[in-house]
Amino acid sequence: MDYKRYIAEKINAEGVSTEEIAALLAVPPDPAMGDYALPCFRFAKVMRKSPVLIAQELAASIAPDGVIAEVSALNGYLNFKVNKAALAGQVLARILREGERYGASDVGAGRVVCIDYSSVNIAKPFHIGHLSTTVIGGALYRIFNFLGYRAVGINHLGDYGTQFGKLIAAYKKWGNREEVEKGGIHAINDLYVRFSNEADEEMEHEAREYFRLIESGDKEANELFNWFKSLTLAYVQTIYDRLHITFDSYAGERFYTDKMAPVVEELREKGLLKESEGAQIVDLEPYGMPPCLILRSDGASLYATRDLAAAIYRWNTYHFHKCLYVVAYQQNLHFRQVFKVLELMGKEWAKDLVHVAYGMVSLEDGAMSTRKGKVVWLEDVISRCVEKARAVLEEKNPALENKDEVAELVGVGAVAFGALCNNKIKDITFSYDRALNFDGETSVYLQYTCARAASVLAKAQAEGIAVEELPAFTPCAAESELVKQLALFPETVEQAAEKYEPSLISRCLLDVAKLFNKFYLECKIMQAEGDTRAFRLALTQASLTTLKNGLTLLGIGVPEKM
Ligand code: ARG
Repeated sequence: MDYKRYIAEKINAEGVSTEEIAALLAVPPDPAMGDYALPCFRFAKVMRKSPVLIAQELAASIAPDGVIAEVSALNGYLNFKVNKAALAGQVLARILREGERYGASDVGAGRVVCIDYSSVNIAKPFHIGHLSTTVIGGALYRIFNFLGYRAVGINHLGDYGTQFGKLIAAYKKWGNREEVEKGGIHAINDLYVRFSNEADEEMEHEAREYFRLIESGDKEANELFNWFKSLTLAYVQTIYDRLHITFDSYAGERFYTDKMAPVVEELREKGLLKESEGAQIVDLEPYGMPPCLILRSDGASLYATRDLAAAIYRWNTYHFHKCLYVVAYQQNLHFRQVFKVLELMGKEWAKDLVHVAYGMVSLEDGAMSTRKGKVVWLEDVISRCVEKARAVLEEKNPALENKDEVAELVGVGAVAFGALCNNKIKDITFSYDRALNFDGETSVYLQYTCARAASVLAKAQAEGIAVEELPAFTPCAAESELVKQLALFPETVEQAAEKYEPSLISRCLLDVAKLFNKFYLECKIMQAEGDTRAFRLALTQASLTTLKNGLTLLGIGVPEKM
């Protein structure tokens, strides 16, 4: 049973739906206030009464029953105390029953959500700036699937542009096959950087020529380009594997080469295209934006042109419910322009395009050595964090088995959690020490809490005690608070999808972990007996299940032991 729903159904507030009430019901921070509270301020207008009076009248109209133990009104809040034993029984039974599916649902059945994330640039560094798009996108991908949607993960590759001409020119001049084969993306990047530093007018000319050759389908130029592309993709794949990131499509910018002309034609037919200094633009001045550049004066397409073609292609291919673009807020204007142009083209679905913007990630020790210049490669951050995790584990638990494997999960998880634990739009500074603090608001704290719960359960199992038997039991305050927090998980997952905000899950898990540890320290589990022990073991199992499900959605692995 969903407690909020149950309570909401008892509340007869004129002109306000049960759904609205359920959504407003909250768990007050101080349990002394009640288990659930309904703020009545929003009803004042519809009901034309003061919130204080509304709360009082509603309180008088609801009779306690087996679920609701007490109803009271205070300062415009309607407060409920529920029957703790019933609450615990129902919540835990559901978690034990649903296991890995706890928090999952089919609300999204039959709907497709396209998610454009990570979207790497071929032959360019995969750097710290790609962390958020990759892990936030990956989390949203799993969250939507968990809720029954069909998520389509799209890596909109940056594989179009004059830089590939430069790269070929540089390779021809300074490169050789063996070195590039061996050095991979780093060797490619070196060539590119060298071109930027050293190219003269003649090389610039060659670069333009090679770019033209790629475009015109020249065999050798395309072979080189495809080689650079496959080296880049093989490289990023190793990072995706570590971060548990997958895609369904790698249709990048180049994929739209032959799909832009019809879009330009449509813009022209609809009278949206204007000439400005030789270029073709869509005027967005009436909407307070600079014009959207469609074709340069030399006829070349732009980033926006390819995004227009991509959006139309995605609509035709997937008939999406939503199409998300997990891209840094620096591209706010770009997406506002693209979405507006599609709207002006009369694409009714333009309203379902969403720019999921996020803030910047920087490193606390900006001085860390990088392979090239100022760019901080994501791989280096991950490796360094895993190394540090290894040292922390060595210090905390020298006897731990599989230290390398655990360090991998802890270190990679800490980097990912860095971009998943705060409201996504915030700029963040990543600090290794903070991220690896066992007692902080960290992934390692969550992982450690899982290991702690798992070790209790393993001990019980070793002694032949069932961990999933659920007796009727009246929980103490610490147990009850934990139960209530566990009960919030499914709606948290839904909110995370609704708001495109995986950090809601992170926050929920941190609260679960805090309350679990409080319970763990205050209540004896294995030393208790009979129903008390059985209940506590079930609560431990339910906490572990909830933490694991949440961490899995975030893409963070859970070591068995720590
Ligand atoms: N490759 C682009 C960049 O690194 C991001 C692409 C985002 N997706 C899109 N459809 N524009 O800036």
